[in-house]
Amino acid sequence: MSDTTNPLDDPTADPFEIAATAAADIARLTGVAQHDIALTLGSGWGKAADLVGETTVTIPATEVTGFSAPALAGHVGSLRSILTPKGKRVLVIGARTHYYEGHGVRRVVHSVRTAAATGATTMVLTNGAGGIKSTWTAGRPVLISDHINLTGDSPLEGATFIDLTDLYSTRLRDVARRVDPSLDEGVYCQFRGPQYETPAEVRMAKAIGGHIVGMSTALEAIAARQAGMEILGFSLITNMAAGIQTTPLSHHEVIEAGREAEPVISDLLARVIGEL
Ligand code: HPA
Repeated sequence: MSDTTNPLDDPTADPFEIAATAAADIARLTGVAQHDIALTLGSGWGKAADLVGETTVTIPATEVTGFSAPALAGHVGSLRSILTPKGKRVLVIGARTHYYEGHGVRRVVHSVRTAAATGATTMVLTNGAGGIKSTWTAGRPVLISDHINLTGDSPLEGATFIDLTDLYSTRLRDVARRVDPSLDEGVYCQFRGPQYETPAEVRMAKAIGGHIVGMSTALEAIAARQAGMEILGFSLITNMAAGIQTTPLSHHEVIEAGREAEPVISDLLARVIGEL
């Protein structure tokens, strides 16, 4: 994959200007001047956008300034514009750049900054993740109530002091629970990855208040807050975290759990977005 021309790799460039250019690309390529909601699809959530509404345009993410080709099978490399039955425009981001890819945090949060620049005021972040709570089993969607950023990095540059209270909006979590009262919630711990955690790291995550372990979302949520968006986060528990489940973790297992859960989480997500 040739990434040498990505403008975000120029340290003197302004990432917000690049996001504005990307948003203009999206407006031109979709014919939609402004989006209302953005939705990032993580592992297992790939099909979940299909029920949200009518897809009016699909564009390869590589045609939009600053986006990278997908690093991984199971991660869809496209952007879609969807019109919901209530007339809202949803920008679906199926092209997440992970921190573990090593391209830097500007690339990781570019989709979120671009979404904000398209006009979206709500950011829905989804992921596939490991579960810590003993009452959870693989295939279960849960709400993210808060996060612990264990990457040691931040999308904020310089002395940018931003409040992260109620980062994962209580209001939006209430909306989701009205759709599905059985939704549980938990604190998401973002590890750097790409290796899965050791059992000792999972015990640490539990000891410091974590319930979900994964490799995305926290850095994106910080950038979304910086951009003034309201955030809703969902994890699909694709496996119990290392050491909680006694069998070894595999990427194949994660993808399979996503595939099996797809109908249920697609329906859930469509109904929640319909209420936003
Ligand atoms: N840990 C980190 N990331 C993951 C996991 C996990 O157990 N499952 C799916 N993504």
